[in-house]
Amino acid sequence: MSFGPQAAERLTNKIILITGASAGIGESTAWDYAKASNGEIKLILTARRIERLESLEKDLSTQFPQIKILTKQLDVSNLKDIESFFQSLPTEFQDIDILINNAGKAHGVDKIGTIKQEDIDVMFQTNVLGMISMTQHVLPIMKQKDSGDIVQLGSIAGRDPYPGGGIYCATKAALRSFTHSLRKELIDTKIRVIEIDPGNVETEFSNTRFFGDLEKAKKVYQGTEPLIAKDISDLIVYTTTRRSNTVIAETLIFSTNQASASHLYRKTD
Ligand SMILES: NC(=O)c1ccc[n+]([C@@H]2O[C@H](COP(=O)([O-])OP(=O)(O)OC[C@H]3O[C@@H](n4cnc5c(N)ncnc54)[C@H](OP(=O)(O)O)[C@@H]3O)[C@@H](O)[C@H]2O)c1
Repeated sequence: MSFGPQAAERLTNKIILITGASAGIGESTAWDYAKASNGEIKLILTARRIERLESLEKDLSTQFPQIKILTKQLDVSNLKDIESFFQSLPTEFQDIDILINNAGKAHGVDKIGTIKQEDIDVMFQTNVLGMISMTQHVLPIMKQKDSGDIVQLGSIAGRDPYPGGGIYCATKAALRSFTHSLRKELIDTKIRVIEIDPGNVETEFSNTRFFGDLEKAKKVYQGTEPLIAKDISDLIVYTTTRRSNTVIAETLIFSTNQASASHLYRKTD
């Protein structure tokens, strides 16, 4: 997607912070902001796998030498880590304009009653507590200048809970509820709160959900033509480059083979 000169102009001098930028939607979002800008943006790329971020920074810098990039290891499930991340931000990266709350995951498909406590904890700590803490840290910065965008990676799972997703769906429903409260609380500001709820996107998401079992991960998408990360990152850049009084408050995005969390058309040969 070409975002055009107007989008580039609207992004000029913006500082964009992406969580979970080492893979999938987050990584693709970094590329799409770079492509949509005129080079005058700053990107803060965070995730746990620092070597992936460094390699992404290298590739981005080769293609877009003008863009200032800061890569930082950040585990959003660790609230102390979030605290020290914000304390250690260099001055020139502190005035954040766009927060992409993207880091998130599902662990397993166990039914309620058999779900491991560690999986419950990791999903809530990452998808809910981490997301809330990132927002809490960024909001005073945005309030001070009365502008900013907070993009929330929700999911169809947050609207349409399915068996085997008891915890993941609950985390995304929590995100959705938090997001709606936030938008209402910010009604007298120019801060935009944007929720994006994808259906199936083929990324590392299912590899993580099935703890590295690639066969099981592949089966999730078998016979369908799932969304790809770029479909979502296009949307993220699009929503954050609208006229400043326009909020694309929420978007539900599916591939043509999907109509709800579990209503999938699978082609069989
Ligand atoms: N793929 C889908 O079908 C789908 C559908 C709806 C919504 N979503 C949502 O979209 C978001 C991105 O998912 P994706 O599909 O791009 O998955 P992905 O390819 O697995 O990427 C997930 C990203 O989150 C990061 N992450 C995981 N745990 C983290 C932690 N504790 N702290 C910081 N970063 C962490 C990962 O980096 P590190 O491992 O390096 O930390 C990675 O960069 C998630 O919130 C997911 O719930 C995905």
